[in-house]
Amino acid sequence: EIRKVLICGGGNGSHCLTVLAASRPNIEVRVLTLYQDEAERWSKICEDNNGMTVSITYNDGTQGELKSKPNLITKDPKTAAKGVSVIFLTVPAFAHESYFTELAPYIGPNTLIVGLPGRAGFEFQCLHILGDIGKQCAVASFESLPWACRILEFGKYVQLLGFKEILAAGIIVGSQSKLSFSPFDVIQEVLGEKPVVKKIDNYIAGNLMSKSIVHPSVMYGKWSVWNGKPLDEKPLFYQGVDDRQAKLLSTVSDEIIAVGKEIERQRPDMKMSSVNHIFDWYKDYYQDQVKDMSSLKMAMTTNKAYEGLKHPMNEVEGGKFVPDFTYRYTREDIPFGLVVMKGLAEIAGVPTPTIDEIINWLQVKLDKEYIVGNKLTGKDLKESRAPQNMAVKKILVCGGGNGAQCLA
Ligand code: NAI
Repeated sequence: EIRKVLICGGGNGSHCLTVLAASRPNIEVRVLTLYQDEAERWSKICEDNNGMTVSITYNDGTQGELKSKPNLITKDPKTAAKGVSVIFLTVPAFAHESYFTELAPYIGPNTLIVGLPGRAGFEFQCLHILGDIGKQCAVASFESLPWACRILEFGKYVQLLGFKEILAAGIIVGSQSKLSFSPFDVIQEVLGEKPVVKKIDNYIAGNLMSKSIVHPSVMYGKWSVWNGKPLDEKPLFYQGVDDRQAKLLSTVSDEIIAVGKEIERQRPDMKMSSVNHIFDWYKDYYQDQVKDMSSLKMAMTTNKAYEGLKHPMNEVEGGKFVPDFTYRYTREDIPFGLVVMKGLAEIAGVPTPTIDEIINWLQVKLDKEYIVGNKLTGKDLKESRAPQNMAVKKILVCGGGNGAQCLA
């Protein structure tokens, strides 16, 4: 039996997933990209080269190469969605809404929709936009991308720089869905041997575990004490983490754990054991990459996977640099990250002073207002994926173990 899989997006992750998926037997791969003229360009380049190539650096340091060709690259959601049983969204979170909206009329029952990565609020937004058909589907949201990767030549050549060992996802199976396959088995088949995919206790835990806490904590920690003078060089992002930034991140992580604990106290069927501290997450996920695991700061500054990564900066007069607050580290991780977690904290009734402080400061840089003081009542809240915007306000009253009764 041939399984039809749709991959949405045209960036680094989508290129990488497309080549890997198209190399698997018995999988027909289609690509949908709605962005500008990406579909036409990618399709032509792929035809001209009779496929695409991924160069792979395996975790033991050896190199490999894989070639394959997707069956279709299009910008037409109707053609793309016809008969597919799995849809992957591999784009930055601010682009998810356009895919949900364009695909909604064409998604069939018993489809699995996968955010790879999902980012906080993925399933809230997906089921909110899909409406009735959502009840007959399943929605999985992964905590991150399976690999570090980047496009070397658009439409033709992508570089995979390292596999994660494990990757976790929360899943909501709609109350009226009858999937004919096991979601995690099929996702594993598409991804290959690594990373090993793992199910998170429930989707709320998955939202709290989203790794959107790292970038804003570091950005705020660094730039809120900056004197405003342009810098000669772009500073290192992770390797440059200082005590203040590490402390902020650690406190944000403590606040998130407190939210998880309170939700579980109110709803004992919602297990939150997977909502662990960011330092413990580094210990689990980056064991082999970190030289000095003695503290959160050292886990970040001595992490091989982070080598050379710089702060997002804009060049100004005289070849100097100032921070770029519109980069996805804030543009994605505030409205599709911290604001969603703050929304869950409000529902649970847990104060989050440090998260509030960070949102308050960074939202000004984004020219947005999500929070006013410590309440999510800002005029731009509707552009975020806070549960307050969607049909999930009563999670703690009506949600079931995996939220299905409430959401779908
Ligand atoms: P990317 O920056 O390569 O994505 C760009 C693509 O997104 C564009 O080619 C276009 O197809 C789409 N897009 C951008 N703006 C759009 C808009 N306004 N409307 C519609 N589509 C738009 O992103 P990448 O690197 O593929 O990352 C995907 C996700 O994975 C992001 O959430 C990122 O934070 C995450 N991630 C990426 C890693 C990497 O190594 N590339 C590592 C870990 C996480």
